[in-house]
Amino acid sequence: MQKRTLDDIDVRDKRVLIRVDFNVPLAGSNTGPPSVADDARIRASLPTIRHVLDKDGKAILTSHLGRPGGQPNPDLSLACVADHLGTLIEERVRFSSNAVGDTVEEAINGMSDGSVMLLENTRFDSGEKANDESFAKALASLADVYVNDAFGTAHRAHASTAGVAEFVDVAVMGRLMEKEIKALTRVRDHPDHPMIAILGGSKVSDKLGAIRVLSETADRVLVGGAMSFTFLEALGREVGASRVEADRLDTAQSLYDAAEHAIMLPSDHVVADAPEAEASASVVEGDIPEDQMGLDIGPSTIETYRDALDGAATVVWNGPMGVFEHEPFAEGTMAIAHAVADATDDGAFSVVGGGDSVSALGQSGCTDRISHVSTGGGALLTFLEGGSLPGIDALSDA
Ligand code: 3PG
Repeated sequence: MQKRTLDDIDVRDKRVLIRVDFNVPLAGSNTGPPSVADDARIRASLPTIRHVLDKDGKAILTSHLGRPGGQPNPDLSLACVADHLGTLIEERVRFSSNAVGDTVEEAINGMSDGSVMLLENTRFDSGEKANDESFAKALASLADVYVNDAFGTAHRAHASTAGVAEFVDVAVMGRLMEKEIKALTRVRDHPDHPMIAILGGSKVSDKLGAIRVLSETADRVLVGGAMSFTFLEALGREVGASRVEADRLDTAQSLYDAAEHAIMLPSDHVVADAPEAEASASVVEGDIPEDQMGLDIGPSTIETYRDALDGAATVVWNGPMGVFEHEPFAEGTMAIAHAVADATDDGAFSVVGGGDSVSALGQSGCTDRISHVSTGGGALLTFLEGGSLPGIDALSDA
């Protein structure tokens, strides 16, 4: 179902409540307030914010940050994000220390057209995650129109992402939401072939649906990260002390069998006795000794995966190949980042998503060479596996 967009509404003189996903990593500081450690999600929301400001609307931004459990928590305040946004847009960004209520309404009434305010973390109120009607109505009462630009949170049926849309006259997609849906629909519904999916990260259980769907649509699914050990153990290999989801061995086996050779698993590994930066790492082919754990894909696997990506027309990557945060186990993930970028340079349409993969991409210096870097983690996987996204479903039909 097509949904309305910013192009379908006039925002002039309107109170425009924009649900953004400012759930960004913060860096702590002993001497002062926390600061934004990675602002990719904030930058991704700028086209929508700029549109509303340029058209003389009042941009009222609402978001969650972290998982404060329905209680105020100063460590998860969005105040530092307001400052950061102000620097990016070179405008004053007002901050409301409440998410809803009379004081917020008064502050909004005092806003001039073309100005911007960020409201405090919606998850300081237990009504947010419960999709509580009165919290959704309180948010809606701040708005003449509602814009959802929080693709990263679109898989959550919360008050600020879904419930609020019922109580406003018009609820539309923002620019980022539109862009994500366009790129991901291309990959999910009509990818060019050969299509290569790369899946990593720690758990098979987080990605069951994505593995199932991608092993049907992609020509190859290259598996790395700790989740490969659940597959390898299910196939009878020795994985030593590597992380395995014992309760998912049967599932891994049946996914592998159903994929009929589409799933590729690592043939060698970088191993150590602990996932630590100082650990002494070595490469093993095949079986992993009992006292060692696999922490990255090995050089032969890198070569095989690079070959598989050569000539790809579509590439989707979610999840690192190893513990790339530590230098001895970073090479596999960095090599994949470069190989995906090379495939893109050669004409592939590439999508990379998930917090860890996007940060690894940044570490590799290849971000700008990727066709679409998604702001979604869970939302991206839900979208790719064809699941429903309440944050999109709730919007007004076009
Ligand atoms: C994310 O980072 O995936 C989104 O912001 C959703 O956050 P959540 O997993 O805490 O709901």
